[in-house]
Amino acid sequence: MQCRFGDKFKFFPALILVCLLALPSFALAGHGEAKTVKKGILLAAFGSSMDEAQITFENIDKAVKKAFPDVPVRWAFSSAIIRNILAKEGRVVDSPVAAMSKMMDEGFTHVAVQSLHTIPGEEFFGIVDTVKKFEGMPKGMTKVTVGNPLLYSDADMRNTVKAVIANIPKDRKAKDAVVLMGHGTHHFANIFYPASQYYFSQADPKIFVGTVEGAPTLDDVKGMLAKSKAKKVYLMPYMSVAGDHARNDMAGDEADSWKSELTKDGYKCVSVLKGTAEFPQVVDIWVDHLKVAFKHLGDH
Ligand code: CO
Repeated sequence: MQCRFGDKFKFFPALILVCLLALPSFALAGHGEAKTVKKGILLAAFGSSMDEAQITFENIDKAVKKAFPDVPVRWAFSSAIIRNILAKEGRVVDSPVAAMSKMMDEGFTHVAVQSLHTIPGEEFFGIVDTVKKFEGMPKGMTKVTVGNPLLYSDADMRNTVKAVIANIPKDRKAKDAVVLMGHGTHHFANIFYPASQYYFSQADPKIFVGTVEGAPTLDDVKGMLAKSKAKKVYLMPYMSVAGDHARNDMAGDEADSWKSELTKDGYKCVSVLKGTAEFPQVVDIWVDHLKVAFKHLGDH
């Protein structure tokens, strides 16, 4: 249908009305393809090239499929470096954009994306920006929602503290300190690490949070440890996967690892090489966030 205003000025208002009325039907009818609602889930992690981490991802996959038995679940890793390492080993994992494109081509109309990140930092917002672009794309998705990372609300902080404490090795005595190594970032969401310190301190005065790339630093942790009078320190990653940072920067034998530095300062160190994604209580928090995101998809 075409609107021609040229010579028939007296019908002008009527023609505008006809055109306006015609517009929505064009948009809705398209080429007569009726869109049926097809819901899916995309799990987006930073990724890891470690074999041990794959088991962790499989556990998350199982937990999500148990909570959503009828919904197809796909995966994406947001780290290009990790994806390239895996590709050389013959394991192809999609980027968030590739995973969303495939889902779009498969006719998914509603996709809930769950971030398996710890803080709402650069990686998380990168995923939000990327997947939201698919919402409303011609012949694309009607609705895309994103579940919050592990730490987002006050309740998340409290639940995460409980989850981590439940997974501290049982032989740790109350007088022993626990040092958690977070990743840290230049992004303003780094504030979630000092915030975590507040919540952990409420629950246990001898748990200290430090970061590799942000604040608090190892020096900050050393100051808190000195005041705590602890002699033994349990070192644990405050990261989803016990990857390179946990194995080298935290528990490695190099002189500048946290274990070496604290041992030099006279502490007896015990390294716990388990990422938080290995804790079922932590996986439960992500699954709860996904339930909220999935609910927000609606039905049309
Ligand atoms: Co890093």
